[in-house]
Amino acid sequence: MALAERLAGRTIAVTGAGSGIGRAIALRLVSEGARVLAADRDVAAAEATAALAPGGAVTACATDVTDERDVREMVARAVALGGFAGLVNNAGVGVAGTAPETTVEQLDAVLAVSVRGTFLGIAAAVPALVAGGGGAIVNVSSIAALVGIPDRAAYSAAKGAVLALTRAAAIDHVGAGVRVNCIVPGTVETPWIERITAGAEDPAAAQAAMQARQPHGRFVQPQEIAAMAAYLLSDEAASVVGAAMVVDGGMTAR
Ligand SMILES: NC(=O)c1ccc[n+]([C@@H]2O[C@H](COP(=O)([O-])OP(=O)(O)OC[C@H]3O[C@@H](n4cnc5c(N)ncnc54)[C@H](O)[C@@H]3O)[C@@H](O)[C@H]2O)c1
Repeated sequence: MALAERLAGRTIAVTGAGSGIGRAIALRLVSEGARVLAADRDVAAAEATAALAPGGAVTACATDVTDERDVREMVARAVALGGFAGLVNNAGVGVAGTAPETTVEQLDAVLAVSVRGTFLGIAAAVPALVAGGGGAIVNVSSIAALVGIPDRAAYSAAKGAVLALTRAAAIDHVGAGVRVNCIVPGTVETPWIERITAGAEDPAAAQAAMQARQPHGRFVQPQEIAAMAAYLLSDEAASVVGAAMVVDGGMTAR
């Protein structure tokens, strides 16, 4: 089957679709024939993603994934578009710091988006996917779930939870025809990287040093994460269940 048809006729909701990885996923899914509901708490950013796609292929949706009502409304809107077949729980926020350096407010904010948001997404999407005959959910974890990354205590806790929740939900729902998997990205070139390095004395030098640390010598591109998301959402991944698909340029291989 041509890639342009792999997701034809399917509606897929993508959270955090207004920027970086989420935007790249939304556009990739459209290129494979899907309709996308681009959900973001920054609705102007989601609308900017929609403007990059062919007319009507992407619908923007104001959604704060930490809000249960918003998440239910997002799924209802995806169902209303017809052919609801998947959800990508991509929205995430980060905070730098060790545990002693991190405030409880920062911890709660990071956990709320990644853990509560992914949990609410699964809870709302599974019944709708089952009602539609099955589907797939893709969560976005991080290599911080697999190896120790300095100064990322709260973020690592959040992404480790996303990985564990992926496996639990995969086992819970595979019998009903819903596959749940996660992607484990390495360091991906998105506005996130600019924010992390903005405080450095020489942001360009800090980014160059980060790239040099990658075994394959460069940042992972958002489009490379999007390609994995499209695969996991497609029927070609029918036997991929509860998996953590690492796309990290070799960071966790050494
Ligand atoms: N960039 C990386 O190196 C990297 C590496 C591993 C994992 N990730 C993960 O990939 C995902 C996307 O990261 P990115 O680099 O594209 O970040 P980004 O900051 O460029 O985009 C994140 C998007 O999520 C949205 N968002 C934040 N909180 C939200 C909420 N409560 N409800 C709805 N939307 C919300 C933001 O408005 C933004 O549009 C995150 O889960 C992140 O943890 C990123």
